Amino acid sequence: MARFHDLTVTDIKKTIRDAVVVTLRPENGAAADFDFTQGQYLTFRHDFDGEELRRSYSICAGKDDGVLQIGIKRVEGGAFSTWANEDLKIGDRLQAMPPMGGFFTELNSDNANHYLGFAGGSGITPVLSIIKTTLAREPKSSFTLVYANKGVNTIMFREEIEDLKNLYLGRFNVIHVLESDAQEIDLFTGLVTEEKCAQLFEHWIDIDSVDTAFICGPEPMMLGIASALRKAGLDDSQIKFELFASAQPGRLARKVVAKDAAKSANMTSAAITLDGATQTFDMPKDVTILDAALENAMDAPYACKAGVCSTCRCRVLEGEVEMVANHALEDYEVEKGYVLSCQSFPLTDRVIVDFDQ
Ligand SMILES: Cc1cc2nc3c(=O)[nH]c(=O)nc-3n(C[C@H](O)[C@H](O)[C@H](O)COP(=O)(O)OP(=O)(O)OC[C@H]3O[C@@H](n4cnc5c(N)ncnc54)[C@H](O)[C@@H]3O)c2cc1C
Ligand code: FES
Repeated sequence: MARFHDLTVTDIKKTIRDAVVVTLRPENGAAADFDFTQGQYLTFRHDFDGEELRRSYSICAGKDDGVLQIGIKRVEGGAFSTWANEDLKIGDRLQAMPPMGGFFTELNSDNANHYLGFAGGSGITPVLSIIKTTLAREPKSSFTLVYANKGVNTIMFREEIEDLKNLYLGRFNVIHVLESDAQEIDLFTGLVTEEKCAQLFEHWIDIDSVDTAFICGPEPMMLGIASALRKAGLDDSQIKFELFASAQPGRLARKVVAKDAAKSANMTSAAITLDGATQTFDMPKDVTILDAALENAMDAPYACKAGVCSTCRCRVLEGEVEMVANHALEDYEVEKGYVLSCQSFPLTDRVIVDFDQ
């Protein structure tokens, strides 16, 4: 199975000084593979001076827009995002995996729901896709967006959001919260913290009517919002997250186990299924399932290797693993045995793992 597909860049637009919206066309009959669900992301790979980097970018288009579009904000000193903002041109070819991710809820035209979205900076990209698709496909539902940015000049998709407000009058409300630009209403200036959310729920947002909340932005902001939502009565199943990067420290480096310890207590017999084929091999217990699969020439999917994106998700069918970080999987997935293979170390002498489920 081809994991990466060629995509041609058909358009590039600056949405603000430091961010581009890139339109992509799948090549070689791969269009159906890129039929996405609102809120999903694409994982790209690109060679930088002989080193392959993989980065994920959320689709910002709605399902009914008829285009595949992503928004890339330049991160200071960032390799991929700087290249995309400065060097990428119309006509260039990129390579990406088909859409992935579970940052969405099922839509139904009979629903009359109230959705609440929180986006910080480039965190708007998946939220915009969700807003556009939901308002188009659920004519009785409404959406409130709280959008946090440094200042007016850094608001991605500002005009598009204004157009949506006009198109869906009465069903789409936006509250811009700006960190440094003063606004008429004091509450709309500063950072989106737990306290600010509590005040918004008191004066501006009817939190009791909210069915689902979507949050995407910097990690501390997301944690504050989630806490405020829980205190306001939402349960975890009503709160959906998408994290772009985690500031939490990664796992500590683990001691390397000598190869000749093959039969020792530090080894596990692993059976790993990928693309319908199963490989069995011995692996050290201090190597992740993902790295063991890659070392054994299996083309296992991955992107961040930091427990953030979920590209490397697999299911443990037998045995136990320890997942040392998880910023991506929801509780119900973990209960079903899904793990992030880039963060999972075998605990038992035998593990059976499936990447295809
Ligand atoms: C599921 C998922 C979806 C994503 N969707 C989008 C999207 O739609 N638009 C978008 O612009 N980005 C998105 N990202 C983030 C993106 O994948 C990259 O992490 C980001 O562009 C930085 O990559 P880089 O190669 O430019 O920087 P790197 O060279 O990897 O990093 C340079 C420096 O920036 C820091 N850094 C890395 N990522 C961020 C970040 N997001 N914010 C602030 N500092 C950071 C690093 O710690 C490092 O110090 C998404 C990430 C995930 C996991
Ligand atoms: S590769 Fe991103 S969570 Fe494992």
